[in-house]
Amino acid sequence: MSGRRLCRIAEIDEDGGKGFVFGEGTDRREIFLVRVGNRVYGYENACPHLGSPLDFHPDRFLNAEGTHIICATHGALFEIADGYCISGPCAGDSLTPIALALEDDGWVTWPDAPADLS
Ligand code: FES
Repeated sequence: MSGRRLCRIAEIDEDGGKGFVFGEGTDRREIFLVRVGNRVYGYENACPHLGSPLDFHPDRFLNAEGTHIICATHGALFEIADGYCISGPCAGDSLTPIALALEDDGWVTWPDAPADLS
């Protein structure tokens, strides 16, 4: 399969998610994954409000109830399935989705990952 393998689905904490950082400086790119059962959703790790990462503590992308993605800085809440912001300073905006593929052996892959991602 082409693209970049990110992790196995079992490595994604269902209570929090999993973040990835690629590159450095102006090439730096952050994404994160959240998991609901056997479904995985991926987004750029940038709040539409200020563009800062959503997690204050690494891999903590969900609210305490596990029902929504949360921006730790100002508390904006986003739908897990589509990244739509339902409350907070960026209500009505959306996270930028990352299209993912789940392979039969449990690997989560980013098919459209930039070729020069390191
Ligand atoms: S930076 Fe995310 S809600 Fe303000």
